[in-house]
Amino acid sequence: MPDSIDFFQKSGLPGTAHLLSALPVPVVLLDVEERFCFANPAAELFLGLSSSTLAQMHLTDLLPEDSRLPALVRQVRAADAPVSDHDLVLHSPRLHREGVAAHGAPLPEMPGAVVLTLQDGSTAQKLDRQLNFRGAARGASAMAAMLAHEVKNPLSGIRGAAQLLEQAASEADRELCVLIQDEADRIRDLVERMDMFSERPLEREAVNIHEVLDHVRRIAATGFAAHLRILEEYDPSLPPVWGNRDQLVQILLNLVKNAAEAVDPREGEIVLTTAYRHGVRLAIPGSRERVHLPLEVTVRDNGPGIAEDVRASLFEPFITTKRGGQGLGLAMVAKLVADHGALIECDSRPGRTVFRLSLAKPPAGAALAQQRARIRQPA
Ligand SMILES: Nc1ncnc2c1ncn2[C@@H]1O[C@H](COP(=O)(O)OP(=O)(O)O)[C@@H](O)[C@H]1O
Ligand SMILES: [Mg+2]
Repeated sequence: MPDSIDFFQKSGLPGTAHLLSALPVPVVLLDVEERFCFANPAAELFLGLSSSTLAQMHLTDLLPEDSRLPALVRQVRAADAPVSDHDLVLHSPRLHREGVAAHGAPLPEMPGAVVLTLQDGSTAQKLDRQLNFRGAARGASAMAAMLAHEVKNPLSGIRGAAQLLEQAASEADRELCVLIQDEADRIRDLVERMDMFSERPLEREAVNIHEVLDHVRRIAATGFAAHLRILEEYDPSLPPVWGNRDQLVQILLNLVKNAAEAVDPREGEIVLTTAYRHGVRLAIPGSRERVHLPLEVTVRDNGPGIAEDVRASLFEPFITTKRGGQGLGLAMVAKLVADHGALIECDSRPGRTVFRLSLAKPPAGAALAQQRARIRQPA
């Protein structure tokens, strides 16, 4: 770039270049002639071109004039308003990217200029989904707190009153009093289960995920999935994950239970896998942190797939297609995964449903410190 810092200063926007350079999202600025006058490091990486090369170029040197991105830039200028588009294909001899989301906005300080943010479709979708799950989790914890406060106290009053009435009631009325107490107990149990959603600090340590999976598998194989085949495809060299063992058990148990409930009792098969994935990095919404989530655990089944009408809200509380189902399992999973700063995704089609969990490694030194502590204090 000629001198982008200087450029922003002259345009009355000092500090902007520094700010934009710190963003992990590709951002470029095009002047009124569609010349690149700024590209942040994320954009250089995304476009595969250095700032100094881009500074010599027009947008149409990069992409054919009739493609959708130049059209979007022109729309922004014509309407003097932001325009977004998604699923763009950026294709030219220099560049090939598919599923790109683009957002263009005018810059009041520079008439005719357009700020473009570009995002890889899969990253955009991942972030979007992650945000959704966080929303679902937050909704659930707010509801848990509300229920605990508003329902538990009057409920114990109702139960107590029914118990008192029972003592003086006729035979027929006594039955009704017992019914009131039983139903009150049922509501109390539900509220207590919901209470699992409330916010608690998470204690994490280096956890052997294969040990967790074996535990879950044993519970499944001796109980609700006794009739099913459960297979393992593990990467034995996988390092430990950074998590809370009990909660990881809860997450995986919920996923395996759903798989067991989905598959055909005779031909059902559940496959547990682990693998190391180098690429998975995630920006945490509302934070500058970017976490690396290379440790992948999946639960796969050969059932009929997720029903169309629950797909969009799969991780929301009270979404269920099962008779007598509570629809709390996946909301719980979403909450625990979010607490872990981890990611969960679901891919589903008839015959193959995969829940994929991406987890972090312990921070440097944590595993070692833990090992030392164990050696010092043998169990
Ligand atoms: N492996 C799976 N295969 C098909 N559908 C699934 C699977 N896992 C979850 N679902 C769907 O998601 C819904 C919500 O699951 P969950 O939150 O655990 O609640 P519940 O199990 O009580 O219904 C289920 O009712 C089911 O329709
Ligand atoms: Mg469930």
